[in-house]
Amino acid sequence: MMKALTITQYAKPLVLQTLAIPKPRAGEVLVKMRAAPINPSDLGFIQGIYGTRRPTRLPVVAGLEGTGTVHELGPDAPQELLGKQVALYLNPQTDWERFHGCWAEYLPVKVEQLVPLHEGTDYMLGACACVNPLAALGFMDIIKKSKTRSVIHTAAASALGKILVNLARDAQIDVINVVRSKKEFCMMENLREQHILDFTQPDFEARLADKVKQLNPLVAFNAVANDLAAKVLKALPENGTMYQYSNIGLKPMGDLLSEEFLFKNRSIRGFWILRYLPGLKPNELAEMKQKIADDLEPGGKHWFSAPIQAEFSLEKYEEARKAYVKNMTKGKVLLQMSI
Ligand SMILES: NC(=O)c1ccc[n+]([C@@H]2O[C@H](COP(=O)([O-])OP(=O)(O)OC[C@H]3O[C@@H](n4cnc5c(N)ncnc54)[C@H](OP(=O)(O)O)[C@@H]3O)[C@@H](O)[C@H]2O)c1
Repeated sequence: MMKALTITQYAKPLVLQTLAIPKPRAGEVLVKMRAAPINPSDLGFIQGIYGTRRPTRLPVVAGLEGTGTVHELGPDAPQELLGKQVALYLNPQTDWERFHGCWAEYLPVKVEQLVPLHEGTDYMLGACACVNPLAALGFMDIIKKSKTRSVIHTAAASALGKILVNLARDAQIDVINVVRSKKEFCMMENLREQHILDFTQPDFEARLADKVKQLNPLVAFNAVANDLAAKVLKALPENGTMYQYSNIGLKPMGDLLSEEFLFKNRSIRGFWILRYLPGLKPNELAEMKQKIADDLEPGGKHWFSAPIQAEFSLEKYEEARKAYVKNMTKGKVLLQMSI
């Protein structure tokens, strides 16, 4: 038997249950979990508002990414995975009727949703090795294809934002980092970022317009769903595209008028890792995974790492959640399943 944090009803507190250890099916492995972060997507999943489909057969184990060790192989799973330390991400959109999250001591995972890690990789690095690193690599892919030399990024002091500035600097891409407090502004300054704007300041729109004039960003990655979305879209140059990649704020996206699109040929697109990854060629996804594993190995650059502010046991989930939502920018809060 194993401990698992389960959703028994959406938008209600999670329930710690004792469940039977699942068996891996064909193409799956059973992972013994070590740790998992609480991500914004987890909070949305627990609320029942993540994605277009949600598991309907409750209870369902929560948790969408984490790290652990391959404990058992399902039929057809590669032998070399046995005993390997892995990072993993889960997709509640496919197989949603038998979805099994990772906030549990064990879980079955499809082999393609694993990122095999190098021996000795710190579990704290492995815990957040999928969702944000893969999204940041997806952003870089879009930047490259759009041939822009600069981008606007909102909610930029996030763990994802910190990865993006590393990758962008390496590719000589300027990031216009949009944050929401003095504290976040200073944090981005400490990362040696040149272009930082606080959208809570009265002159934000004028400063954004100046930066756009100077840098001509043809792409914006916007995480926020409120008036800021409209301000960013309106600031983009002609032919610019804003990728909406989260719904922080959960509000309508401001006062957008048709002319912003019609006469200036601007567009808004969605970016969601669970739609983006299946569109990659197998070798492209494999390369991304390898890049992440190599970066996080002992002695690696650790550009894909996330700051960790605290760790809690599954029993202390409520404390963990409160610590995280109180100060997301401070770093990830990990749930520990084993030591
Ligand atoms: N589309 C995809 O495929 C994909 C993939 C990965 C991540 N994401 C999204 O990317 C975002 C960042 O993820 P993460 O794991 O890096 O998050 P994180 O490190 O936990 O940071 C979340 C950030 O959002 C800021 N924030 C919260 N509410 C805000 C608001 N109303 N207005 C502006 N900023 C606000 C937080 O600032 P405070 O500390 O001030 O609250 C914090 O800096 C999340 O929304 C996540 O869902 C999307």
